[in-house]
Amino acid sequence: MYFNDNFNSLTENYLFAEIAERIKKYTTENPEKKVLKMGIGDVTLPLVPAVTEAMHKAEDEMSQASTFRGYGPYEGYSFLREAIKNYYGTFGVKLNADEIFVSDGAKSDLGNVTEIFSQNNTVLIPDPVYPVYVDSNIIAGRKIIYTAATEENGFLPLPDKKIKADVIYICSPNNPTGAVYSQENLKEWVDYANASGAVILYDAAYERFISQTEASRSIFQIEGARTCAIEFCSFSKTAGFTGTRCGYTVIPNELERGGIRANSLWYRRQSVKFNGVPYVVQRGAEAVFSKDGKEQIQQNINYYRGNAEILANCLYKLGIWYTGGKNSPYIWLKCPEGMKSWQFFDKLLNEAQVAGTPGAGFGKNGEGYFRLTAFGSRETTTEAAKRIEKFLK
Ligand code: MLT
Repeated sequence: MYFNDNFNSLTENYLFAEIAERIKKYTTENPEKKVLKMGIGDVTLPLVPAVTEAMHKAEDEMSQASTFRGYGPYEGYSFLREAIKNYYGTFGVKLNADEIFVSDGAKSDLGNVTEIFSQNNTVLIPDPVYPVYVDSNIIAGRKIIYTAATEENGFLPLPDKKIKADVIYICSPNNPTGAVYSQENLKEWVDYANASGAVILYDAAYERFISQTEASRSIFQIEGARTCAIEFCSFSKTAGFTGTRCGYTVIPNELERGGIRANSLWYRRQSVKFNGVPYVVQRGAEAVFSKDGKEQIQQNINYYRGNAEILANCLYKLGIWYTGGKNSPYIWLKCPEGMKSWQFFDKLLNEAQVAGTPGAGFGKNGEGYFRLTAFGSRETTTEAAKRIEKFLK
């Protein structure tokens, strides 16, 4: 055997690659039809002025011998790590800059982090959830067990003491359902992990969309999390960096198992396999935390919230069950007339030329559900809502 045969256990395509293929096939066969893409959560508003100004300035520095920079630190420049540290301070989380690792995005880190864990670990993953967690662990050949996120538990499963897991993924605000853990519920996971020795991998990529005060922005707001959690965050959804690429991972110095610190392992892993994020991009990311940057990205988030409201109103009018959109940029709806997720996907694409994301692509419990993104332009979102209304009326 020459290749990693764990790949045989994956679905043929990554979820969003499969959706792109189906749209491509449809548009090739129907070139006169305009498909509205409401599938992948890709932002549409450009980078805000505070960010692009900082990037231009950094670019000028790169053109002068005296200010030019070559390889940067593996873990990110200290100016950005300090800015992130200070941001956490605004909601009461005290970090050390050496606990923050800048990366090219949360997706890469959520997948790559599997390398610092033993092959023999059992991984607990909520279902439905962002498919990267499952696919990365299938590739690594790890045992995966699932915890059901259902309408009954508000898509927020809580720990079950009878289940033994070594690594636990939590995504809050959740992709795809938009559900968000309260600090009280998150404390149950932290206590469970500390009692059992498990490590929580906490995906906070949608943290800026939280509007509920009792919800947790960071797992490190929870007492005890520093000994059991790693947090992943991203500038993609917050500040439009999906194409620019920048994110960060927080690994507290106290997180150790068997006398080995996760922080040291991750630094070692990154220094072997990663040469850092471009200086210009890191300067842009730093500007996200400036006064102007904060105000400008808030306006963008409000714009996307407005889109979510348009979609929610449309479903409400149609009497279709939905959730999400309040603390996240995704609307999670129940497919009408008991349709299966991919069946509804094909029907909506073929008959209304709207492409969303089938819930089944996020796990077996996502079957019968469907996700719409609020990251489109206002024009696309309004048109999509109109088409959905006409199609389902
Ligand atoms: C999504 O649509 O779920 C995300 O945009 C995918 C990602 O962040 O990689």
